[in-house]
Amino acid sequence: MIRKPIFAANWKMNKGPSETEDFADGFLSKIQHKTFPADIVIAPPFVSLAKAAEKFGNVSAVALAAQNCSEHNSGAYTGEVSAMMLKEFYLHYVILGHSERRAIYGETDETINAKMLKAREVNLRPIFCIGETLEEREGGKLEEVLRRQVSIGMKDLTERDLLDTVIAYEPVWAIGTGVTASAQQAQEAHAFVRSLVAEQFGAESAAKIRIQYGGSVKPGNAAELMACPDIDGALIGGAALEPQSFLDIIVNGS
Ligand code: G3P
Repeated sequence: MIRKPIFAANWKMNKGPSETEDFADGFLSKIQHKTFPADIVIAPPFVSLAKAAEKFGNVSAVALAAQNCSEHNSGAYTGEVSAMMLKEFYLHYVILGHSERRAIYGETDETINAKMLKAREVNLRPIFCIGETLEEREGGKLEEVLRRQVSIGMKDLTERDLLDTVIAYEPVWAIGTGVTASAQQAQEAHAFVRSLVAEQFGAESAAKIRIQYGGSVKPGNAAELMACPDIDGALIGGAALEPQSFLDIIVNGS
């Protein structure tokens, strides 16, 4: 099964509107008149989405994502942003279940599933993050953790939802550490995640769904990782904050 790779920049809490404009001007100057055999996604902070939409809204090669959304439609949820509100920024994707949301803000598998379903109600495409901690991996709990995250987080998704969902396998111990999973480690985890999708949704959906790798992806390791049969792109943090580095990962990994 040929799956179009997808490379997403998760800027986390970086780049307000003015820095977003600077990045956009630099990135657009590098990609203009070029086509890529991959989907390109940029996920700025909420406050920069309007500027990002202004700069990238008419650029077919680039789609935009939010980094989170509420599991509620509206109401007394101070500081939260609903999926419906996000649709007004012409977004295509929303990152959900990132390990930092789980670890720092206490998001549970059940909460993440509610967010997934809310995103699907407004046709946002989830980039659904899963991954184990070093303690869990070293404790032999890798498969148990991934099974739990997938089975609960993806509960009640329809076959149609699966077509629009991207899974991002991000070993927590590789995020922001400069310690990247080896290609073998990543491929083994991706193949297992794909087998979980097959169990829950059937072989056809499992063959079609795209599974990104995330965790210290750099221009220098992108080619080896993306050459793995079950790795369909990358979710990138630090190395996607600069236009050239993000572009190099896309080119090297495509
Ligand atoms: O969501 C992507 C992010 O967690 C990976 O961060 O800096 O290791 O590429 P980084």
